[in-house]
Amino acid sequence: MPQNKLNVLVVGGAGYIGSHMVKLLGQQGVNVFTLDNLSAGHRDAVLCGEFIEGDLGDAALLDELFARVKFDAVMHFASWIQVGESVREPAKYYHNNVANTLVLLDAMRRAGIQRFVFSSTAATFGEPQYTPIDERHPQSPINPYGRTKLMVEQVLADYEHAYGLKSVVFRYFNAAGADPDGELGERHEPETHLVPLVIQAASGRRPNISVFGRDYDTPDGTCIRDYVHVNDLCDAHWLAVKHLVQGGASQSFNLGNGNGFSVQEVIDAVAAVTGRTITVVDGPRRAGDPARLVADSSAAREVLGWAPRYADLKVIIEHVWNWEQKAVAHTEVV
Ligand code: UFG
Repeated sequence: MPQNKLNVLVVGGAGYIGSHMVKLLGQQGVNVFTLDNLSAGHRDAVLCGEFIEGDLGDAALLDELFARVKFDAVMHFASWIQVGESVREPAKYYHNNVANTLVLLDAMRRAGIQRFVFSSTAATFGEPQYTPIDERHPQSPINPYGRTKLMVEQVLADYEHAYGLKSVVFRYFNAAGADPDGELGERHEPETHLVPLVIQAASGRRPNISVFGRDYDTPDGTCIRDYVHVNDLCDAHWLAVKHLVQGGASQSFNLGNGNGFSVQEVIDAVAAVTGRTITVVDGPRRAGDPARLVADSSAAREVLGWAPRYADLKVIIEHVWNWEQKAVAHTEVV
């Protein structure tokens, strides 16, 4: 590692995962910079470093920033993430997730920044052909969201070949959890993810939780997912920066715990952790939901030395519940 402090740019650092990343980089002694247009992020979630309000599609702003700061690496978390919305409004997804990412990559190219860590998704695999899903699993996304992420993965391979850009791609399974210190958490508007929705049903901020289908080919009929703590995802990103700085090769990694939990098991675990009664409403299947998505993350463990610290679903839920207490208190004050 270089003797000097690393300069790292976190694009989307005011969002859910990005804000946890900024905090971790600050704790690691990195000179951290956040670029975020605040379309979905929150300014007060950026706990350290320099904040730049702006869009990753703004080439002039990027050129100015890259002329001012010599970045050792860029991390890119800024994308639209809702599968259903991507089907209804593909233009929004292709424009931001693909076109604007190209603007960022080309600005990096002009400035000679050669290291990139990219947030991709299990949605690039589409309907699983086998589980757990390793990196050799064919990638055949079934919605525009997954296609936008796969396109960027393909761009990165071509950019390395032609321009020498080194990258680590992480395909997250189900990001969940919150900062163990209680300073940060998930604040999507609208919220669509299972864990925060069940937690809000437990706290009373929502009347109930809908279960999207009980007729899947799983033991209890509800969908199975691999929930991975946001801080464990951030640990992997930090290991990736060190890997690239030390001259490591470009590689893609699946990130999950390798344990699948059904929707009903998540609801039961939230009830057990919180001691609250949760009203459950059975609904129809949601379009595009595979029955089972579980990661094989052995490559990240072997190559990067990644070891998830919060692999227990109960711990993930405890951290989200802790964060929810603050949201409830805030709602009562307001
Ligand atoms: N679910 C419900 N009720 C709800 C919300 C979700 O039953 O109110 C179910 C879903 O049908 C699914 C499971 O809970 O079976 C998890 O759903 P999430 O929306 O929390 O997460 P997804 O698995 O759909 O999506 C996540 C990421 C996406 C990514 C996808 C695959 O949020 O960005 O994993 O990687 F595309």
